[in-house]
Amino acid sequence: MKTSPVGIPFELILVSLVVALSSACDKPHQEEVIIAPEAPVFADPHSFANPEEVSITHLALDLEVDFGARSLSGRASLHIDPSSGADQLTLDTESLKIRSVTFGNGEPARYTLKPGTPALGQPLVIDLTPGVQIVHVDYSTSPSARALQWLEPRQTAGGLQPFLFTQSQPILARTWIPCQDTPQVRMTYEAIVRVPPELLAVMSAENPTEKNSEGIYHFRMDQPIPSYLLALAVGDLAFEGVGERTGVYAEPSVLGPAAAELSSMNQMLISAEEIYGAYRWDRFDVLILPPSFPFGGMENPRLTFATPTILAGDGSLLSLIAHELAHSWSGNLVTNSSWNDLWINEGFTVYFERRIMEAIHDKAYAEMLAQLGMEDLQATVAELGENNPLTHLRLHLTSDQDPDEGFSDIPYEKGYFFLRAMEEAVGRERFDEFLLNYFDAFTFQSLDTSGFVAYLRQHLVAGDESLEAAFQIDSWTDAPGIPANIPSVSSTAFQDVRDEIGSWSDGMPADQIESKDWNTHQWIHFVRQLPDPMSQDQMAQLDSVFHFSESGNSEILHAWLLQAIKNDYSPAFPNLERFLTSMGRRKFLAPLYTALAATEEGKKRALTIYRAARPTYHPVAVGTVDEVLGWNEQ
Ligand code: BES
Ligand code: ZN
Repeated sequence: MKTSPVGIPFELILVSLVVALSSACDKPHQEEVIIAPEAPVFADPHSFANPEEVSITHLALDLEVDFGARSLSGRASLHIDPSSGADQLTLDTESLKIRSVTFGNGEPARYTLKPGTPALGQPLVIDLTPGVQIVHVDYSTSPSARALQWLEPRQTAGGLQPFLFTQSQPILARTWIPCQDTPQVRMTYEAIVRVPPELLAVMSAENPTEKNSEGIYHFRMDQPIPSYLLALAVGDLAFEGVGERTGVYAEPSVLGPAAAELSSMNQMLISAEEIYGAYRWDRFDVLILPPSFPFGGMENPRLTFATPTILAGDGSLLSLIAHELAHSWSGNLVTNSSWNDLWINEGFTVYFERRIMEAIHDKAYAEMLAQLGMEDLQATVAELGENNPLTHLRLHLTSDQDPDEGFSDIPYEKGYFFLRAMEEAVGRERFDEFLLNYFDAFTFQSLDTSGFVAYLRQHLVAGDESLEAAFQIDSWTDAPGIPANIPSVSSTAFQDVRDEIGSWSDGMPADQIESKDWNTHQWIHFVRQLPDPMSQDQMAQLDSVFHFSESGNSEILHAWLLQAIKNDYSPAFPNLERFLTSMGRRKFLAPLYTALAATEEGKKRALTIYRAARPTYHPVAVGTVDEVLGWNEQ
C-alpha cells in the first residue's frame, strides 16, 4: 500500500476525503473540508510534539550512565527532514536538564523550555533555520526521572553490582530522551552507551552478548520504531542462546534457570510466524530483570523485558512471553496512534497470544486462558461500573489526564473478545486472512480506532449487512460494558475444578479433591472461585493440603493472598509481607494493597509494609500504590 509522507495510508485519506466531500454535498452551505495528505490525521493529546510540521527520522544517542549521580548524561542527535520547511521543532521532555542545543554544523540554536503540565512534562521548542538536518541536544536526566529505576546492589540477584533499567511506555521516554514522544512518529536509532566496565548494557536494538573491558557499547536499530519502544538496561548481565533466533539475558545466577524455563521460545516464534507471517525483527531475546520491574513484560523490540515472577519452574506462566512476542506484529509493526487507542496494541496482542498458546499446547489450554480473561473482564467492568466510558475500547482521555488512567483489562480483554467475536462470525480461515493482510497493510505505521474500523468495513464486512449486524462494531468501540454478542467461553477443565469446589463446600475433605492432573491455570481458577466468605477452618484446611501460602508460582500465590486478605486468614500474612517486599510488579501490588486498604486494620498493615517497600518499587508502581493508599495525604 502507498503511504503519505506522514505514514497514513492513502486509502484512508481517500476514505476521509470521500466522507468529507459527500457530507459537504449534503449540506451545500457548509465549508468544504479538504484533508491535505500532509495534515495530521491523528491527534495525540499526550504529546507537545509537532510531527505534522516536521518529524524526527533518526536518533543518535551518546550517553554516559552515572550510577553515583543516578543520571544519564550526554547528547541526543535528532535527524529531521531538511525539506519540511518547518520553522520550529517541538520536543517532549520531562525533568531533563538541558545544557545546550546546537545544529549539525555546530552553530548554537535558539530554544525555549516552555512551562508544562504535570501529566505531560515540558515542551522544548527549538527554532530551526532553513536546511537544518541535525539537532543536537546536550542534556542530563534527573535522579527522579520516571522511566528509570536505579537499583542498589542488594536489589539484584547477585547483590554486588547496581542495575538500571528503563520503562518508556506510555509517555516516559521523554524523561530520559528529548524526543517526539508520540506513537505516531517512528525513527531508526543508534546509540553509544558508556557504563562501568563490570556491567553490560543492552537496548531495544542489536545487542552485544558479552561485556567488554572499556564498558562502551554500540547499538543500532535499523527499523523505525516509536519512542515508547526505546529501552536500555545496564547490569551484571550474561547471555545464553535458546535455539536459533532466541535467547535470554539475565544476571548470572538467574541465567541457567531462566534459559531452561524459556526453552520453548524458539518454537513460539515459529508458531507465531505460521499464523501471521514472517517475524520482522531478526532476533527475539528476553531480558529477565530484577524483581522490581513494574510490569509482567514489555515488548521492547528485539529484547522483551520481563519480570522474574514468570519463572515458575514449570513453564506454566509463559503466555506472557507469547504476549510480548505477539506485540512484534500488533503494536511494534502496527502501532496505536495514541494511548486512547491502546486496544489496537493490546487487544490484538491478547488475541494473537492465545493463538500462539493454542498452537504450542492445544485448544483446551487456550480456552482456560480465555476464561481467566473473561473473569478479569467481568471483574474490571464491575469495578469501573458498567456505564463508565473507561470501559469503551476507544478512550477520550485529554491532555490533563495521564494515559495511565485508561490502563485496565478493558483494552486487553474487551479487545480480545471483540476480535474473537468477529473470528467466530466469519470463521477462522477468513479472519486469519484478514488479519494477515491487516498487519501487512499497516506495517511500520500507526492506526487509530476509526482507521481500523474503516479497514474492517472495507475488507471484512464488505457491505454484508448480516455481518455488520453480527459484529456490532460500535457496541465494542464506543459503548460501555460488555456487548451482547460477546462469545461464550467454555472450558471443561475449569468445569471439573468448579465441580470439586462444589463437593468440598458440601463437606468432602480437601485431601479428596481430585486435583493431581491440574495445571497452574486450573489452580488459579480454583483459588479465585472458592466460596465467599470462607471460615478460618476452611482456609487452614486448604492451606495445609495444598500449601498455597508457600506457592512458588506467583500467580497462584497472588490469587491465594487475595483470599487470605479477604478472609482475614492471618497465618498467610508473613508470606504476604514477604511477597509485597520482594517484587514490584504492579499487577500484583495494586490488587493486594487495595484489598488490604478495605479495612482499617488492613490499611495499617499495608502502610507499614509500604513504608519499607516503597523505596524499592519503580516510579510507575509507586504512582499507582500511592494513589491506592492515599500516600500523598500522609
Ligand atoms: N505493553 C504492555 C505493558 C504496558 C502497557 C506498559 C501500557 C505501559 C502501558 C505489555 O505488553 C503488557 O501488556 N504486559 C502485561 C502482560 C501481559 C501478559 C498481559 C503486564 O505487564 O502485566
Ligand atoms: Zn501487551
